[in-house]
Amino acid sequence: MSHYIKKSGLYMKIIGSFPKTRLRRLRKSKWIRELISENNITHNDLVLPIFVREGKNKIEPIKTMPGVYRYTVDKLPNILKQVKYYNIPMVALFPHTPNNKKDNKGTEALNENNLICKSLKLIKKKYKEIGVMCDVALDPYTSHGHDGILIKDEIDNDETVKILVKQALLQAKMGCDVIAPSDMMDGRVGVIRKALDKNNFKNVSILSYAVKYASNFYGPFRDAIGSKSKLKKDKKTYQMDFRNSSEGLREVGLDIKEGADMVMVKPGMNYLDLITKIKKNFNIPVLAYQVSGEYSLIRNGIEKKILSEESIIESIISFKRAGACAIVTYFALEVAKKLKKIN
Ligand code: PBG
Repeated sequence: MSHYIKKSGLYMKIIGSFPKTRLRRLRKSKWIRELISENNITHNDLVLPIFVREGKNKIEPIKTMPGVYRYTVDKLPNILKQVKYYNIPMVALFPHTPNNKKDNKGTEALNENNLICKSLKLIKKKYKEIGVMCDVALDPYTSHGHDGILIKDEIDNDETVKILVKQALLQAKMGCDVIAPSDMMDGRVGVIRKALDKNNFKNVSILSYAVKYASNFYGPFRDAIGSKSKLKKDKKTYQMDFRNSSEGLREVGLDIKEGADMVMVKPGMNYLDLITKIKKNFNIPVLAYQVSGEYSLIRNGIEKKILSEESIIESIISFKRAGACAIVTYFALEVAKKLKKIN
């Protein structure tokens, strides 16, 4: 017998009913669960963020993110070797800039010898097969911890964009494959695309952090890059209000028009609805960023034996189910290792 039920405004056809239909038959053993699983992850779905610091011969633990480290450039091969072995397609680089190199304009962002440039040179020389994405934003370099230029107590959009373009060009020149503006200034994607094309970087892609919320879940990251103690006010005049979702679609639409190749939703888990909506409304790859706060909550839960290890995979699968093509996550290596063991 078939009948219809109303579900979220749609009439859906249901074939059969109890006792003829027993959905538990499809869950009764591992092999059948594997057979009918609708979503799966592989190493190809993962992007690993890496923190870089100054100095030599150091791999320094980050207190707020157990299991995550800051690497000096000479020590990057330690983690890159693993990225290569486990076939993770891309890494995302983030610098921890020493205080004496920070100023109110984030000048260090444009230094050809900054941590990001040095790391890019090393990776593109010795690990060519690994894709590299770099954030375009000034927060790792500013004395006030904001992503842009402060003029009269306000983050000035257009003055900031002028610097971001230079930052993007420098990253491209050093070999960056994917330019990732995470600053949330208006119009920056179009200006960056134009500048890249004009300077012969037509094959460098743009992954726009199109939907980036002014979130409380970035805390551990700000600690990791050393901007936390610097930041006086919140970032609510440029990052999105977490009560909004349609606004996120407007952001995506604009960024696609301006030339974005891919878009990011950030944070991930609280904003799965946005991933699904983007997937439905636009034909563009959507990535999810499982941010530092999400990572640390799960990691601490596991360390305190409140959560099981499997909660990591569950959290990552939720992004796939929502419609993400890839996930930026501090768990990337751990997940890739687990997957390799299983297969
Ligand atoms: C910088 C940036 C942030 C994150 C990535 N790039 C923090 C912020 O906007 O304050 C957060 C990532 C994380 O929490 O893991 N624009």
